[in-house]
Amino acid sequence: MEKLRLDRLLASTGAWSRREVKLLVRQGRVLADGTPVTSAEEKFDPSAVVLTVDGSPVLWERYTYVMLHKPAGYLSATSDGRGQTVLDLLPPDLRRRNLFPVGRLDKDTEGLLLLTNDGPLAHALLAPGKHVDKVYFVRTAGCLTEEDCKAFAAGLLLGDGLQCMPAGLEILQAEMEESQALVTLREGKFHQIKRMLAARGKPVRYLKRLQMGNLTLDSQLLPGQYRFLREEEVEALKNPGK
Ligand code: URA
Repeated sequence: MEKLRLDRLLASTGAWSRREVKLLVRQGRVLADGTPVTSAEEKFDPSAVVLTVDGSPVLWERYTYVMLHKPAGYLSATSDGRGQTVLDLLPPDLRRRNLFPVGRLDKDTEGLLLLTNDGPLAHALLAPGKHVDKVYFVRTAGCLTEEDCKAFAAGLLLGDGLQCMPAGLEILQAEMEESQALVTLREGKFHQIKRMLAARGKPVRYLKRLQMGNLTLDSQLLPGQYRFLREEEVEALKNPGK
């Protein structure tokens, strides 16, 4: 693979800043294949070299993939003056890896959020025309009906002129006061589910994303918790057809 500057390479693990790497190099604490590195700007192929810091091997990964159970009250952004972002839920070493959320959930929406620094994968999942299915659990005011399901399946035309793609609505429970359902969207317009259900006169009371493409929210994760994706989960996201 391509060669990368040592300071960038070590800093991308999140364990050190680039300035700290320079200091480590000056102090002779970084070895490449057993030989002290003399410049933090020297380039290495991370797949071909064994780097150690103070004798411990450096674990380097090209990209990082994190599944977060987003709680309500956090913005799906990397920084935002208006409040806490989902990155505030990660420890400092992960925050230093330039992760960003793949797509957005509203501040009050909970559930599955993928964070990564893999730009090509994010693009593949979000690019218009890719139409990756996203599944949400929703509680609405009012009683959902078969008419609502048909309207979703036909593709809703919203009052503001937005023509929605056909979407899935599977009713789990329908009562006069409140209903529960699964919604499957193939696109992701601003406040889309809230707007679709408001257009049917059944405003959203609670929304949680359960699935994005092949990736399902881990039921072991409580709101605010995260874990790294397993290799097979990353592969399944990259090769959705397989
Ligand atoms: N639709 C919404 O209205 N909000 C979300 O956060 C996601 C989908």
